[in-house]
Amino acid sequence: MKNKKILLLGSTGQLGWEAHRHLIGFSEVVALDTPEIDFTKPEQLIETISSIRPDLIFNAVAYTAVDLAEEKIDLANQINAITPGKIGDYCQRTQTPLIHFSTDYVFDGKKGIDYTELDSPNPLNQYGRSKLLGEQLVAESGCLHWILRTSWVYSNREGGFLQKALQWARHNQEVRIVDDQIGNPTWCRALANGVSILLAQNLTDWTRFFEETQGLYHLAGWGNSSRFEWMQQIVDISRDNHNLQVKNLVPVKTSEFPAPAERPTHSALNCNKFENTFQLKLPDWRLALRMVMEEIK
Ligand SMILES: NC(=O)c1ccc[n+]([C@@H]2O[C@H](COP(=O)([O-])OP(=O)(O)OC[C@H]3O[C@@H](n4cnc5c(N)ncnc54)[C@H](OP(=O)(O)O)[C@@H]3O)[C@@H](O)[C@H]2O)c1
Repeated sequence: MKNKKILLLGSTGQLGWEAHRHLIGFSEVVALDTPEIDFTKPEQLIETISSIRPDLIFNAVAYTAVDLAEEKIDLANQINAITPGKIGDYCQRTQTPLIHFSTDYVFDGKKGIDYTELDSPNPLNQYGRSKLLGEQLVAESGCLHWILRTSWVYSNREGGFLQKALQWARHNQEVRIVDDQIGNPTWCRALANGVSILLAQNLTDWTRFFEETQGLYHLAGWGNSSRFEWMQQIVDISRDNHNLQVKNLVPVKTSEFPAPAERPTHSALNCNKFENTFQLKLPDWRLALRMVMEEIK
């Protein structure tokens, strides 16, 4: 019997699309994205949420264009911070648990090893600053919440890293790829699955569950990787199946590819707190990559 209602915001994004397919297994789901909702119009959004009266809100909406955010500072702040803060206020008033996602880009990457939740953020770019402000406003709203920081979220969609990597490897004998950015490749399906398992297991009393567990967690593909290693794995897994031309992968430094937004070097996340709290971790990133690539064979 499905007697709980989840409001999923951002249902056509990478994470939202996967979350929808997992959440409908155990709950009613109202799944919304643009144009039905617009995070630049928070009053209208809160009216929509109030009319739905969800038992839980899963916010997968974000302004994720890292380079464009350098120019569109107000827009990034509105979507990633101000409006999530208003959703937090609604959730506080109505005792509705809120699941909100953030990023490894809240860190400057200078620590040199994986970051825990106790490390101080210091974002290097506007996207990271907007996501950090979002974390703060959600937490300050006083609502029951999880803020889940994740890293290098990918799917097999056109335009994402995986498909781009395959294109580069199909059309070039040599591919240059940075080896000084380290993160956790996170398959959006594994992330959606991990969160959904916990919600399903605790379906009878989400309020109590969030009272006991609320807070900030790192949740990403297990293990860290450089962009170079990630590319290398993609090529190794697909060598026999995707008509690759590539013979030579060349590790290079980020400075070879100047971009408007500065990226942290080592921003990988240590996910032990999530594992210790929930006895759950996402699959090793290499294993997840194999699973995704099964689908594009
Ligand atoms: N992608 C990554 O590498 C990465 C890394 C670390 C953390 N994260 C975090 O993980 C979460 C999920 O990311 P993702 O990769 O799934 O993002 P995504 O694929 O870019 O999806 C974002 C969603 O937000 C929607 N959206 C954007 N502007 C909106 C607006 N004004 N009003 C309503 N909806 C709007 C988009 O809809 P339209 O497509 O219609 O615009 C899209 O459905 C986010 O919190 C993100 O910050 C992502």
